[in-house]
Amino acid sequence: MLVAPSILSADFGNLARDVRAICDAGCDLVHVDVMDGHFVPNMTIGPVVVSAIAKAATKPLDIHLMVENNSFFVDLFAPLNPEYISFHIEEEKNPHRLIQKIRSLGIKPAIVLNPHTPAEAIEYLLEGLDMVLVMSVNPGFGGQKFIPTVVEKIKRLKVLRDRINPACLIEIDGGVGSSNIELLKEAGVDICVAGSYVFGADDYKTAIDSLRA
Ligand code: DX5
Ligand code: ZN
Repeated sequence: MLVAPSILSADFGNLARDVRAICDAGCDLVHVDVMDGHFVPNMTIGPVVVSAIAKAATKPLDIHLMVENNSFFVDLFAPLNPEYISFHIEEEKNPHRLIQKIRSLGIKPAIVLNPHTPAEAIEYLLEGLDMVLVMSVNPGFGGQKFIPTVVEKIKRLKVLRDRINPACLIEIDGGVGSSNIELLKEAGVDICVAGSYVFGADDYKTAIDSLRA
């Protein structure tokens, strides 16, 4: 299990310190939540702040777009060389084209599914993806309660993934912690995002290790 702490729950007054701390604590990716106040009822950060995060990070960035006009935001963040850029299928009219664009920029393309979106929605896109991100809360805020029905969706997604593109990773985001990580691992999750669980812990390394185990 790879672990990607979400900096949404970091102390934004000490962002560089917190980014360094999770990297030193052994995380695999730094999960960056970009919200525009349109696709979700919250706003977070743009390229100026993400650039500061990229400078502080010693692990690759996993940029999660929760925005309208995905292509515009891909152009904004591509110069920061993230490992992944993921966009929501609910918001994208030309997903094939956007996948190709992200890949042509040397970034791994990923698609996000909201809790209500079926796994089958991306069946015909899977072969072009490096990762599928399954939301286990409604996007917009950290610290929400895990929605248990996504476990069955992950199992269905895993069947599709194993048949169509076994190299594509499955990531989960929202309400993840030590109480549900075992269940998620069994269902087929490869990468977990955790915000409040990691940043709310006294020791980041212990928290990250507990998700990996
Ligand atoms: C929610 C974000 C998540 C969030 C996770 O829209 O995509 O990455 O920060 O936070 P927790 O782990 O606290 O649910
Ligand atoms: Zn996220």
